[in-house]
Amino acid sequence: MSNEFLVALVLISVFSLNSVAEAGPRYPVILVPGDGGSQLEVMLNKTTSKRSWCERTTSGYTSLWVNMEELASPMIYCFVDNMVLEYDNTTRTTRSPEGVHIRTVGFGDTASVEWLDPTWFSHEFASVSYFYPIVKDLVAAGYERNVSVRGAPFDFRKAPNEFGRYYEDLRGLIEDTYALNNQTRCVLVAHSMGNPVLLYFLNHQPRAWKDKYVHALVSLAGVWAGAVKIVRLFASGDNLGIPIISPITVRSEQRSIPSSAFLLPSDRFWRPEEVLLVTEHRNYTVGDYRALFRDLGLADAWEMRRDTQGLVRDLTPPGVRVHCLHGSGIPTDGTLVYAPGSFPDGTPAVVSDDGDGTVNTRSLEACTGWSGQQKQPVSHTVLPHVEHLAILRDPQALKYIVQVGLGQL
Ligand SMILES: *[C@@H]1O[C@H](CO)[C@@H](O)[C@H](O)[C@H]1NC(C)=O
Ligand SMILES: *[C@@H]1O[C@H](CO)[C@@H](O)[C@H](O)[C@H]1NC(C)=O
Ligand SMILES: *[C@@H]1O[C@H](CO)[C@@H](O)[C@H](O)[C@H]1NC(C)=O
Ligand SMILES: *[C@@H]1O[C@H](CO)[C@@H](O)[C@H](O)[C@H]1NC(C)=O
Ligand SMILES: *[C@@H]1O[C@H](CO)[C@@H](O)[C@H](O)[C@H]1NC(C)=O
Repeated sequence: MSNEFLVALVLISVFSLNSVAEAGPRYPVILVPGDGGSQLEVMLNKTTSKRSWCERTTSGYTSLWVNMEELASPMIYCFVDNMVLEYDNTTRTTRSPEGVHIRTVGFGDTASVEWLDPTWFSHEFASVSYFYPIVKDLVAAGYERNVSVRGAPFDFRKAPNEFGRYYEDLRGLIEDTYALNNQTRCVLVAHSMGNPVLLYFLNHQPRAWKDKYVHALVSLAGVWAGAVKIVRLFASGDNLGIPIISPITVRSEQRSIPSSAFLLPSDRFWRPEEVLLVTEHRNYTVGDYRALFRDLGLADAWEMRRDTQGLVRDLTPPGVRVHCLHGSGIPTDGTLVYAPGSFPDGTPAVVSDDGDGTVNTRSLEACTGWSGQQKQPVSHTVLPHVEHLAILRDPQALKYIVQVGLGQL
């Protein structure tokens, strides 16, 4: 064998090592938001309005979710009236009230999932930035917005049983992004409710499709098995951490949407005797949703629970590589205790459970059950004291996502 040949071999391997180090694999990223994590637009053509100060018509679509100035004013009532869904017990689907049309915007682009309030575009103000810190770090690592990092917003008021069209769009987006990035498989990054929404999707894709198009799922604060906070939301409402909103004001909207019913605590992760809600008259457990809805006068909510409770109850493994990250060590709704006379409109005392402030730990860590149930590895990373929304700007979580994207994890 000639020396030249050996030299050539060495050069070739050095060259290819170099090119790997420079270009590296860069798996394109698809962002799937959680409850409240997509901008929405509304067009109104109503003949009547419950409140004199609320607009009845608009000339086209305008931004609906979330405009901080509006939420702090009487306009909050208009927002709630427009966000409410009506249940159709024949088709078992929901729709907006007559004359209200709501849509997501910018499917495939990142803008509508980076910021919740479009008027704050490019600002870093924590309560309105959503996926922005993640996108910023990916761009710093060589990613390009709308090309190698993309957003898949959805109408978070609904649940997977009404996402037929969204799931078709999502499949198309993943295939397009694969093609746009030199046939490179995608990393799916989901937050909160985006995780069970994505699980349902993956559970319904063929094995060969997932092998071809999906590199990994990075799950941030996944609500895999529900959260007690949702029980509170049906009883007294919840301001979703926005202090200027009063819980009762937004309650009618929260009670009307299937995503609330979908995210109630699962009977596979709460024991039948564990009390979730205490009143002077009776206690309610995971087995008592029907009675709870009857006692609250919410017949449609019980129908929506029946429609959604089985969608991901079994937690069938997604069949892709999983990186599961979540916070812990923060007091989270465990049992809600209503003082006599205060149910349901008052504020309950709370017996805390461990969690990330929104979701209980047993639900967050339910992803660990997939280890050994699927051939792809499942990694689990607990971030102590990282709160449910704060995980989206947590330095360790951001670094982790970039490393998965660059094929280093
Ligand atoms: C608005 O509603 C009226 C009926 O209430 C209907 O005739 C009209 O076509 C609607 N306009 C639009 C733009 O949807
Ligand atoms: C649907 O709701 C209506 C009105 O509340 C009720 O009369 C009817 O029995 C319900 N139908 C079904 C199938 O539940
Ligand atoms: C991404 O798409 C949005 C909406 O189409 C657009 O406003 C934005 O400028 C695009 N960003 C880049 C970096 O191309
Ligand atoms: C695309 O991928 C092929 C095979 O993996 C590789 O040889 C080529 O250099 C890549 N092209 C670009 C532009 O990254
Ligand atoms: C409700 O549960 C609490 C403890 O969680 C218990 O002390 C109380 O006796 C129960 N009340 C009823 C009416 O069962």
